[in-house]
Amino acid sequence: MAEAHSDSIYLLQLTDCHLMPQPGQLFRDIDADRQLARVVEHLMGIDQPIDHLLLTGDLVHHGEAQAYRRLLDILAPLPGERHWIPGNHDEIDAMRAATSMPCGQEEVDLGYWRLLLLDSSSYPDGRGSGSLNEEELHWLQQRLAQSPERPVLIALHHNPLSTGSDWQDEIMLGNAAAFTELVAAAPQVKAVICGHLHQSQVRTIAGAQFWCSPSTSVQFRPAQSDFLLESEGPDSQPGYRWYRLDPDGSVESGLVRVDAVAPEPELG
Ligand SMILES: [Fe+2]
Repeated sequence: MAEAHSDSIYLLQLTDCHLMPQPGQLFRDIDADRQLARVVEHLMGIDQPIDHLLLTGDLVHHGEAQAYRRLLDILAPLPGERHWIPGNHDEIDAMRAATSMPCGQEEVDLGYWRLLLLDSSSYPDGRGSGSLNEEELHWLQQRLAQSPERPVLIALHHNPLSTGSDWQDEIMLGNAAAFTELVAAAPQVKAVICGHLHQSQVRTIAGAQFWCSPSTSVQFRPAQSDFLLESEGPDSQPGYRWYRLDPDGSVESGLVRVDAVAPEPELG
């Protein structure tokens, strides 16, 4: 791993928190609020440097404004500038009702780096897929044409790469080829990150590094033809990724797992 630089920028990615409408309601047998709170407690305990906190979609399960407010309350102890993008379970209007923070496509000036956040919730198929709409693809193309020498990290919810899991490949980014073409034409794109898969992935895409963070709630077992929860072993644990962006355009990422909270009987 390259040495950290005093000008390095630290991002923290939390994704697929899936908070339920009411506190105490269970998401696939776990209390997603408590689980997220445990992740926050863990992060506070290790003094993780966080300049920017990236929340990459499926932040709540049914898109209610009250659940977004709970999410932001749980995250309140963490440092860092907040950014969030929607996933297929999110409702942009409810996210905007919960806070004045930008939601959806956004360019963030990180000094040496630029961060481009995309909204991949367009054209949903109702089963979990999503796409970038034409206007957003054009926006991305225009942004990449600007400052071609500055390194870029792109974050979106849906994975633009197939993973070999049949059921998940059916609900990956709908127009992945158009997205990948733009990345391939922009060598300053150093990294692409996503959520959606509820598992860790480390790959490359069109010359850029590609990372997927596991969920802060439940994990899905990779390389399956049908949906299957990861129910045991380290890969079943909630987790997150950190990213260190260095001034020379290099980027490092680390995967961290956190102990799962014990299952509880559902209220009511
Ligand atoms: Fe999810």
